[in-house]
Amino acid sequence: MIEPMGTWRRTHGCGHIRPEHVGQTVTLMGWVHRRRDHGGLIFVDLRDREGLVQAVFYPDVAPQAHEQAHRLRSEYVVAVRGEVAPRPEGTENPDLPTGQVEVRVRELKILNRSRTPVFPVDEEAEVGDDLRLRYRYLDLRRPALQKNLAMRHRAAASVRRFLDDQGFWEVETPVLTRSTPEGARDFLVPSRLAPGRFYALPQSPQLFKQILMVSGVERYFQIVKCFRDEDLRADRQPEFTQIDLEMSFVDADDILDLMEAMICRLWEDTLGVELPRPFPRMPYAEAMARYGTDAPDLRFGLELADVSGCVAGSGFKVFAQAVAKGGVVKVLNAKGAGAALSRKEIDDLAGFVAPFGAKGLAWIRIQPDGTWQSPIAKFLGDEARQGIRAAAEPEPGDILFFVADTEKVANLALSKLRVHLAERLGLVPEGRWSFCWITEFPLLEWDPDEKRYVALHHPFTSPVPEDVDKLADAPLEVRAQAYDLVLNGVEIGGGSIRIHTAEVQQKVFDALGIGPEEAREKFGFLLEALSFGAPPHGGIAFGLDRILMFLCGTPSIRDVIAFPKTQRGTCLLTDAPAEVDPAQLRELHIRVRRPESASP
Ligand code: AMO
Ligand code: AMP
Repeated sequence: MIEPMGTWRRTHGCGHIRPEHVGQTVTLMGWVHRRRDHGGLIFVDLRDREGLVQAVFYPDVAPQAHEQAHRLRSEYVVAVRGEVAPRPEGTENPDLPTGQVEVRVRELKILNRSRTPVFPVDEEAEVGDDLRLRYRYLDLRRPALQKNLAMRHRAAASVRRFLDDQGFWEVETPVLTRSTPEGARDFLVPSRLAPGRFYALPQSPQLFKQILMVSGVERYFQIVKCFRDEDLRADRQPEFTQIDLEMSFVDADDILDLMEAMICRLWEDTLGVELPRPFPRMPYAEAMARYGTDAPDLRFGLELADVSGCVAGSGFKVFAQAVAKGGVVKVLNAKGAGAALSRKEIDDLAGFVAPFGAKGLAWIRIQPDGTWQSPIAKFLGDEARQGIRAAAEPEPGDILFFVADTEKVANLALSKLRVHLAERLGLVPEGRWSFCWITEFPLLEWDPDEKRYVALHHPFTSPVPEDVDKLADAPLEVRAQAYDLVLNGVEIGGGSIRIHTAEVQQKVFDALGIGPEEAREKFGFLLEALSFGAPPHGGIAFGLDRILMFLCGTPSIRDVIAFPKTQRGTCLLTDAPAEVDPAQLRELHIRVRRPESASP
């Protein structure tokens, strides 16, 4: 039977009971994690969010409670009152913080029953993702996910404390707003009051935080939901959380220094780890040259080099033609891979790089005697050989991997291969936090599909002052005052110093091919605000979910979000997105045209 709590009040968390409580009478409330019937005795592992403790029902000590305990099942909610006692010698459990003690129950109240859980809460069983998301509340009861929720809370609290101490104000910005320029697809919300018009959910509070600087807030932050309708991956969700901030009267160094301090405090508050400072800084161009990516994992070596010059005239047509067409030949020196990979395994790596656009993967294995084993060695003359030696510094036991293609494809393919081989060769050290600021991003890049320049970060990022004059003639050479923070090869944050004068903003819009009309239509309110005395300002946003993946040590972003979406952007708990009532649609002046393929 289910009983009310009555006057019972819990005195302790289950996981908090220790030998110092021996002799005390405690009242605990929680869930039946596991029940074991040992002839006369009944053992119940009682669980609340603080952890587990063993409750024991003795038939002779409390016959009524013992009798009731027979009815307990997994996930029943109970209250017990009893005395903390040392466990009998030999039955201690050193793996459990409460493992030295048990609670000898005198009274039991069953506060609620539970249906048989659809998957076990009490063990790390293999459970399908869909089932876990459908019954998220059961999944969240599991100690591993409870730990992640607690970590998320502690991380957010640490950041808030730090930023409060530094004089930041937390200001909320609208969720029903206009399209913002982060470059992903928007989620739209139809307006009932303005037929045919839509709000966009913010991809970030970018424009509002800049306007807050114009408003004189000086230091703004927000732990804020952002919405981007993009293809999902292991570290991407359609709604995710940013630690978003903006500051006035600062330059990039001020922001980087302060943010380093914030990250260090965060690691100390959550993991008790003291990170070495300062974090290294690397210009974008160097990162691309040496690692082929703007988010390099610096926990291991395996660097790239460009050998285009020395192989352009070689007899290997694939290389010569790639360079002739304006492409590059880059090489990855897989140090020490020679002994680890068989001939077949080496050849199979061409299949690994193919999805990234590489049309082949040439290789040279350096034999113990220094000679080159390679399907392409016979085509390489002295000049090519010397150039490759100078660029890649091969030693016996190394394998050199080459991709000849556009710079973009060569860098992408080899940067992925670099990480893949480092994992395969066991070169990635455990427990290392390798932070790095990437700086001096290009302001613009060429979009071959749209046939125009687009902002690499967003159109309000300030160019490096001495590069402004190049905007008209050599736009790709213009560097931005933009920076990313990379941790172990993952971009965890990014920001920039912003343009704060209407003149520079107009020049950048010109370079982007955004005419005055379009600029006014899309961002008129920002441009206008900038014309009323905008202070110099800049900021950054961190992906809180991504940071938590590191703090919690999980490869899935879903493990750090209470109610995440699936790869298809659905919520299996609530079954969103869902059909709506036709009346609602009429009110919104919306008629749905289903694609042919969609089921009704
Ligand atoms: P940016 O677009 O680089 O910058 O985003 C900042 C950080 O947010 C995280 N992030 C994501 N995390 C999970 N799922 C996603 N879909 C997702 N997209 C981005 C990343 C990224 O580094 N307004 C600018 C910031 C600024 O300039 O101040 C912005 O949003 O960790
Ligand atoms: P092929 O002459 O096409 O058989 O190629 C000879 C070798 O060059 C093979 O090992 C291919 O994987 C490699 N290869 C082919 N195309 C490329 C490319 N674009 N970049 C690097 N290696 C390539």
